[in-house]
Amino acid sequence: MPTNQANRRILITSALPYANGPIHLGHLLEYIQTDIWSRFQKSQGHECYYVCADDAHGTPIMLKAQEQGITPEEMVAKTGIEHKQDFDDFLIEFDNYHSTHCDENKELSALIYNKLNDAGFIAKRSISQLFDPEKQMFLPDRFVKGTCPKCGTADQNGDNCDKCGATYTPTDLVNPKSVISGATPVMKDSEHYFFDLPKFEPMLKQWLRSGSIQTEMANKLEEWFEQGLQQWDISRDAPYFGFEIPNAPGKYFYVWLDAPIGYMASFKNLCSKNGVNFDEFWQEGSDTELYHFIGKDIIYFHSLFWPAMLEGANFRKPTNVFAHGFVTVNGEKMSKSRGTFIKARTFLDHLNPEYLRYYFASKLNSGITDLDLNLDDFGQKVNSDLIGKVVNIASRCAGFVKKRYDSKLSDNVDNPELLAEFQQAKESITTCYENREFAKAIREIMALADKANKYIDDKAPWVTVKDDALQQQTHDVCSMGINLFRILMVYLKPVLPNMAAEVESFLNSELTWDSVDNNLTGHEINKFKALMQRVDMDKVAKMVDDSKDNLVATKPVVTGPLADDPIAAEIEFDDFAKIDLRIAKIIKAEHVEGAEKLLKFQLDIGGETRQILSGIKAAYTPEELEGKLTVVVANLKPRKMRFGMSEGMILAAGPGGKELWILEPHDGAQPGMRVM
Ligand code: 2FM
Ligand code: ZN
Repeated sequence: MPTNQANRRILITSALPYANGPIHLGHLLEYIQTDIWSRFQKSQGHECYYVCADDAHGTPIMLKAQEQGITPEEMVAKTGIEHKQDFDDFLIEFDNYHSTHCDENKELSALIYNKLNDAGFIAKRSISQLFDPEKQMFLPDRFVKGTCPKCGTADQNGDNCDKCGATYTPTDLVNPKSVISGATPVMKDSEHYFFDLPKFEPMLKQWLRSGSIQTEMANKLEEWFEQGLQQWDISRDAPYFGFEIPNAPGKYFYVWLDAPIGYMASFKNLCSKNGVNFDEFWQEGSDTELYHFIGKDIIYFHSLFWPAMLEGANFRKPTNVFAHGFVTVNGEKMSKSRGTFIKARTFLDHLNPEYLRYYFASKLNSGITDLDLNLDDFGQKVNSDLIGKVVNIASRCAGFVKKRYDSKLSDNVDNPELLAEFQQAKESITTCYENREFAKAIREIMALADKANKYIDDKAPWVTVKDDALQQQTHDVCSMGINLFRILMVYLKPVLPNMAAEVESFLNSELTWDSVDNNLTGHEINKFKALMQRVDMDKVAKMVDDSKDNLVATKPVVTGPLADDPIAAEIEFDDFAKIDLRIAKIIKAEHVEGAEKLLKFQLDIGGETRQILSGIKAAYTPEELEGKLTVVVANLKPRKMRFGMSEGMILAAGPGGKELWILEPHDGAQPGMRVM
């Protein structure tokens, strides 16, 4: 990676979040990491762009939209707005945020596919897959469940067993069922399109050797090469939410084909707005730099498929791909029941986003090991480092400068050696940022903060200020303290952009990387305001509580009537629409001779009279009901009962016997009206 090079041109991406769910802490690790790196690169004066987009396509998004009764386009639009707001509020400063469901991506996907096809990198062949005969669609692995073929545990996923860990294909499952309709899937043939990845093996090996690829990634790739690369299935059959493949009606690009092309699409969209030359960044042989930040779970896509696609379509390949590990909370996988599956929004409801930015930065390095957010440690570290060390420097000096010295910094430098030490640290801190060793950068910055505090402790301006003879010294010391604080804030600016902005208005001076080399003397500063509140552990607890609530909202802990009589299996709207419910007027109600439980009704259902026998005798007398309106199932097949025909059903609630209550509409409803 080119370092110390003036005026680099850099394009940075984070992985595109799926447009069917909220941003959570797991996502945020990546966006915060990338954002810090991007802000750092910009602070170095490089031409740098950070782009991202929502990953809009695929079966899960299509089905979720269906479930909500909206179009996928509507869902994607709605989620996009929520994601953008979360990112803004976490101070993730994208130069462009787009969606893969856009014209640029459609064009670029077709272009890349056509180039690959023309070059002979696309193969076609028929494959046999599980098909849902009710839903009339092929089933992705995760939409098939059944009994594990190895250990016999029921209700296992299509690709692996939670109980015994066996891996298999969905066709191996015993008694497989479609998760979508419950139907038993059948095998069905269909023609699929494949990208010929193995043809790129020599190029990939060479490309990977040419960069400074992460060790762990190199090991993984080594393993994959040993196992042998396979052709990649890039097509999906309709119904699918995505882009149709050129000249292949009813065939769509698999979401993972157009997702990384979304990086290009978002950048292209940016170029159309700011006039940057797209080709200069993407053409083969480009001397610009391209970096993808990703989670360790999607290395295969980014270090094999993606560079191979780019190569095959004559585009430049990434300069590097930076993977990171997963987030654990309190040492464990994020869990909804423990309240540690924390959404971005829930965090923001309770806590300052810069706490999380700082905590992640203080633990991030260039490797792919998981990062633990220990909530106690989180509170302690933010409080002790940011409040106890950094802010403390300024708050101990600012008041005196304002009150005693007319808000002006001294013309002298009290301790030039210490100032030089702070300035010289720039080189090492810059290298740490460049190498994504943020934890190391933070450690160095905090070591400096300790030195600044020790300097102030030793000089004790709160003592010297009382001595008229020591006014100059006090002024010099406080000014020195503020300058040291200023340098620390320059170093922290990529991590804490909001706090840095506050400091800029306090210091009346911009915190640029170059400004580290200067010292503010004879400079007027503004009133010091509290820069950051301490982390309140009660709020942390509240956030965890609220994250548990998130779960309760989707999966209630059942008490009351639902405990004994749970909600029935979900049905499609079409199924519900088959039931024709109508308002009916009870014209006549009477006892039935010999029947213990039944009442016999004549009902006007809007121009037609129906006879219905209903078992509500224990709950009502006929007189109570005559003349009233109620709701009946009007298209229930007539039933011949011992006491006559029953041509429908009156709707009533309750366990039975005396405890039965028939439905009655509000005033205004008329017999014959449909109930929906
Ligand atoms: O794993 C995911 O969440 C994907 N949506 C990431 C896509 S990254 C890129 F390739 F688009
Ligand atoms: Zn099993």
